[in-house]
Amino acid sequence: MQKKITIAIDGYAGCGKSTLAKALAKALNYTFIDSGAMYRAVAFYCLENGFISENDEIDSTQLLKQLDQLSINLSPDQKVWLNNQDITEVIRSPKVARVVSKVAAIKAVRTKLVELQRQMSVGGGIVMDGRDIGTVVFPNAELKIFVTASIEVRTQRRLAELKTKGEDIDQEAVQHNLLDRDHQDSTRAESPLKQATDAVVLDTSALSREEQLDWALSRVALLVTD
Ligand code: DC
Repeated sequence: MQKKITIAIDGYAGCGKSTLAKALAKALNYTFIDSGAMYRAVAFYCLENGFISENDEIDSTQLLKQLDQLSINLSPDQKVWLNNQDITEVIRSPKVARVVSKVAAIKAVRTKLVELQRQMSVGGGIVMDGRDIGTVVFPNAELKIFVTASIEVRTQRRLAELKTKGEDIDQEAVQHNLLDRDHQDSTRAESPLKQATDAVVLDTSALSREEQLDWALSRVALLVTD
């Protein structure tokens, strides 16, 4: 039997990390874990419970009081559950995207989610994407991929994705959100987004999904032998 490895995929918002991670997990018969969905779940909870003000300030005292009671699950069919409620679609809204980086900067939130991410990955055969997977969650992952793409390409891809979901949002707002999140995610004190020193870089700007997958599979093949 082939050795099952841990694959960490990190990078900026909208580079295609989750798409690649999902395809890679499918091709290898591994488990895919979208760690960003977990941060989005907490952001959604904050919005639903009124912990976020009109000007996007978070009442972290209220959140921290309830954090222990939050149950977040990712099912094998890629659905995201918060306290047994299916929140798969709602966490992709621009409203959640606007506040999620602030929620992800809270230390206690990160501690809880990193622990959960490690519990979900016991046994290996994991592809997890996020911002701190290769640096913090799995510093010993056998394969670390740092995904990049130009801001123009990222904006167009995200815009197309939101339009197919019927979201009415303009190009400027999408680009602003991507850049704003990148800035917040890479400058925060807790586990900022950065490339692990032993990560390989994949620029997806000019690559099709198939080309990205082929590239990643060739990297895996270098590490996995019969
Ligand atoms: O991958 P995504 O765009 O769904 O992630 C949503 C936000 O969650 C992102 O702006 C930063 C945060 N995040 C994080 O801080 N650490 C992770 N491992 C994954 C996501």
